[in-house]
Order: sequence, then C-alpha cells, then structure tokens
Amino acid sequence: MLEVRHLGRSLPLGGELLEILRDVNFSIAAGEFVTLAGPSGSGKSTLLGCITGLDLPTSGQVFLKGTDISTMRESQLAGIRNRTVGMVFQAFNLIPTLTARENVEVPLYAGSWHGSPSDRAKELLGLVGLSHRLEHRPSQLSGGEQQRVAIARALATEPPLLVADEPTGNLAAAQGKEVLDLLWSLKERLGTTLVIATHDRTVGDYATRWLQLADGELISDAPGPRATSR
Ligand SMILES: Nc1ncnc2c1ncn2[C@@H]1O[C@H](COP(=O)(O)OP(=O)(O)OP(=O)(O)O)[C@@H](O)[C@H]1O
Ligand SMILES: [Mg+2]
Repeated sequence: MLEVRHLGRSLPLGGELLEILRDVNFSIAAGEFVTLAGPSGSGKSTLLGCITGLDLPTSGQVFLKGTDISTMRESQLAGIRNRTVGMVFQAFNLIPTLTARENVEVPLYAGSWHGSPSDRAKELLGLVGLSHRLEHRPSQLSGGEQQRVAIARALATEPPLLVADEPTGNLAAAQGKEVLDLLWSLKERLGTTLVIATHDRTVGDYATRWLQLADGELISDAPGPRATSR
C-alpha cells in the first residue's frame, strides 16, 4: 500500500539546513492500523505530509500503491489523493463558509460518489454523533465537533488509505473510543489502511503496528497489541 524509502526533508533556515526527517524507511501493507508516535517536533506531521504528497521530500521516495508520488506534479497528485487518501489534519482545515454537512459533501463531489452526497454526509455525521449539527458552520462548532466533521469528511469516500494527525486530540475519552472503533471497523470491513500520528495511548491500543520517530529519525518499528488480528 505504502512504501517510504530513504525519505529526507530539510529546510534552509537562517543560513543553516534544518533536517526535519532523516533517512526514514518503512513499508505498510493494506489493512494495517499503524500509529506514529514521537515527541512534539519529532517530524510526525511532516512525515504524514510527505506520504500524502502535500509536502515534498528533499530526498528519497514515497510509493503509494506502487506509484512514486515524490516526483509527481500537483495536478497528477490531486487525482491520486482524491481516489486513494482520506486525510484528517491536526488543524481541522474545514471550509469556514460551508456547513458541517457541506464540508463532508466536498470530497464526494470531487470523487463523484455513486450515491447522494447529501445522504452520505448525513450518514457519516450520524456515525460521529453530529446528526444535530448538520447545518452548523465550523465557527459554530466546538473543537471536538469540528474534529469529528473532519473525520467524517475523510471517511466519506471510503478511501483505501486514511492518514490522520492526532484525530482524537480534541475528543473526550468516550468519543475518542467511538471514533477509534469506527476506524477499526472500517479496516475490518473494507481493508482500509490507517496511519495515525498521535500522543494518545488509547490509539496505540488499536494498532497492529507501532512506528516511533525521534528527532526526525525512525527509531522503532514494532508490532502493536492488535498485530495478530489482521
Ligand atoms: N515549514 C517549516 N519551516 C521551518 N521549520 C519547520 C517547518 N515545518 C516543520 N518545521 C520544524 O520541523 C520539526 C518537525 O515538525 P512537525 O510538525 O513534523 O512535528 P510533529 O512531530 O508533528 O510535532 P507535534 O507533535 O507538535 O505535532 C519542528 O521542529 C518544526 O519546527
Ligand atoms: Mg504534528
């Protein structure tokens, strides 16, 4: 599903070269539930950016379903991203002028969903417990509610790869568990591959695989507690 080879990302900063990621290597099979841990600033969000093609690596390669996306142009990438990847960002990136329902509909129009985008959006918002907030705009929603809209949006098209940056960061414990159960059931039902950057131990409990970053380097790649249930 995903292969990262000798991935590096550095930025010029005040005459020096700041290395954010250094020689990161791993591959992830379809249907894995992978968590990416590491201290703040260790490069988790940057790595997620590189594997979704939103950030350009300065060295190395990223293969998404066998295709090297690290050298692709934005126009090609956009299509792949639409078909293959759902994303939940650390900052939720909802469109402020659209309601919750409309935000969830956006990828359905872009990816030409086979059913009614509006019905699908309502279904997804129901799953994340927001049936009563369909017509609210992001500014009228709490942080946790915005996060759940972002999760519903990312899941809307049932993408084979879901990449999420701290998806439970703003949720109450019970709500976080509901979202995780939902992600796990997607993996079981559809074979969805999940890559989740998180500080939350509860997320780690669901993992079939644990990756750990420190200072831009992958320092650990080990089976998670649910490794056997694949
Ligand atoms: N555009 C940029 N310009 C300069 N430095 C950057 C840029 N993007 C990231 N960095 C630096 O790269 C490092 C890694 O950032 P990144 O956001 O990937 O960390 P993270 O592991 O996601 O942290 P957190 O857990 O706080 O979200 C940080 O030290 C950050 O300051
Ligand atoms: Mg981050």
